[in-house]
Amino acid sequence: MEVLIAKDYNTLSKQAAMIIAGQVISQPSSVLGLATGSSPVETYKNLAAFYREGIVGFQQVTAFNLDEYYGVAPDNPCSYRWFMEENLFKHINILPENTHIPNGLAKDVANECLEYEEKIHRAGGIDLQLLGIGGNGHIGFNEPGAHFESLTHLVDLDQETIDANARFFDSPDQVPRQALSMGIKSIMAARKIILLASGKAKAKAVYEMVQGPISPEHPASVLQLHPQVVVIVDKEAASLLG
Ligand code: GLP
Repeated sequence: MEVLIAKDYNTLSKQAAMIIAGQVISQPSSVLGLATGSSPVETYKNLAAFYREGIVGFQQVTAFNLDEYYGVAPDNPCSYRWFMEENLFKHINILPENTHIPNGLAKDVANECLEYEEKIHRAGGIDLQLLGIGGNGHIGFNEPGAHFESLTHLVDLDQETIDANARFFDSPDQVPRQALSMGIKSIMAARKIILLASGKAKAKAVYEMVQGPISPEHPASVLQLHPQVVVIVDKEAASLLG
C-alpha cells in the first residue's frame, strides 16, 4: 500500500485525476470502478477539465459504480445515478450505455446483484477502482463486520453511515436504510485501487486502514492485502499515521 500525503483536498484531487487520466490514456478501453460521496467530487471536476482541454477522452471507457441506495429511483436527485450524471458523466464523452450503477429499484435483488457481477466480469474486470472511506472504515457500503468474501449484495447501513449521509437528504429519516453495494471481494478483484480521504473526521479510519490490524471490523484494512493500492490523503486525514 502506497500512501501519498497531499497538502490539501485540491492537490489530492488533482493527483487522483492524473492517475485516472493516465490509466485511460494508456488503455482507452479501461474499465473504471467509480465512487460517490464528497471525496471524489473535485477529482471528477479535474477529469472533466482534462476532457474539455482535450487531454483525455472517455469514448471507449466502461464504468461501474460501487453502490446505490435501495428503493431510490435513478431520477431521484439523492440517487447515486443522479450524483454520477451531475458530477461526471454529463461533463465527459463516456457513452451512457457504458455507465453501470446497481438498480436501486430492482424487484429481484439477488438477480440484480448477480447480473452486476456478471457485467463486470464480461467487461473484463475493473482496471482501476476509485474509493472513498467511511468514518467507520467502510468501503463502498461494506460496513464493519462485512465478509471479505462478499460480492455485490444488499447491505443494511450502519446508523453512523445513515447519520453521515443525512447531509445529502432533506431530513435524516429520508436516508435509505439499505443499499446495493459491490462486496469486498468485488473491490479486491480490481487490478489497481486509489483511495481518497480528506479531513480530520477521516483520520482514525485512515490510521486503522493503513496501520491497524486486518479485520472485517475495519473493512478498509483488507486493502493492505491488495498488491496495487495508492491511498491519497490530505494532511488532516494523515494526522494519526506514525
Ligand atoms: C458513502 C459511500 C462511500 C463513500 C463514503 C465516504 O456512504 N457509499 O462509497 O466512500 O460514504 O463518503 P465521503 O467521501 O462523502 O466522506
